[in-house]
Amino acid sequence: MGDVVGDEMGAEILGLNLRNTLDDTAIAKIEDTLYRYAVIVIRDQSLDTGQLAAFGQRFGPLQPSGRRKVQNKDADNRVQPDTPNVNFISNIKKNGKNMGSSDAGIYWHSDLCYEEIPSKATLLHALEVPEKNGIVYGATQFTNTAAAYEALSDEMKTRLEKLMALNSFRYMWNKKAHEFGRRPALNPAELDQLTPDVTHPIVRTHPHTNRKCLYVCEGYTSRIEGLPEAESEALLNELFAHVIKPEFRYQHEWRVGDLLMWDNCTVQHKATFDYEPPLRRLMQRCTVQGSKPF
Ligand code: OGA
Ligand code: MN
Repeated sequence: MGDVVGDEMGAEILGLNLRNTLDDTAIAKIEDTLYRYAVIVIRDQSLDTGQLAAFGQRFGPLQPSGRRKVQNKDADNRVQPDTPNVNFISNIKKNGKNMGSSDAGIYWHSDLCYEEIPSKATLLHALEVPEKNGIVYGATQFTNTAAAYEALSDEMKTRLEKLMALNSFRYMWNKKAHEFGRRPALNPAELDQLTPDVTHPIVRTHPHTNRKCLYVCEGYTSRIEGLPEAESEALLNELFAHVIKPEFRYQHEWRVGDLLMWDNCTVQHKATFDYEPPLRRLMQRCTVQGSKPF
């Protein structure tokens, strides 16, 4: 593995060609670098779905997202039986159909936090980046949940210590349907078909760094267990506002060929919808299974 150029959060790893099979030492170094900087980029890569899956799998089993129907497709909307866990995020339509998820990352979130076993890492590879007159659009924003936790008052840390919160893919689905209008709202029977809600600790300990992280997000966290509804809502809104304060943030400006990886315990992320067709954005993605939050 080449040099690492990094800041407090966010680093670039130089000198790698991910089409080559890396040895275990290099993979372990990349994973250590990921935990140190939370968001890492390897530039100038050109990976197809199989190559992305092969690289992602070196960090652990790949995990299907809650929205299965947008998976398993390549850029021409063809099913990819060999890489079922690679999916596309894009605003491009082919034959009137979205090529992949067109509304991913509207709200701040941590990937697959609505699963019993969420993703430890996400890999997002830029194939097309919206650009006009030399200005690049469609950045991905990150916020550091460990720094946000550490900045809480002692009183708030104590208050949160034993609290658990509900994370819900179903809640997110209808929120997007109503507030963003890009998907149909589902009735209770239809919602029932989606991934069931899970509870996770609000203060999550990172399994590698041991840092405590705030594990509630605007996108998927619907309720704090054991609190009256109004109190739950007020506390969640306070935490959602706290976790995204500017001092905890980093923004990734994309270049074609970027392979970005992030640590879903240490950061939350959000897409920036500041471009429209004919500007095109096409990202290829997979997530790596982590461990049960504690
Ligand atoms: C994701 C995601 C945001 C973006 O891939 O999980 O939320 O900017 N992406 O595409
Ligand atoms: Mn995401």
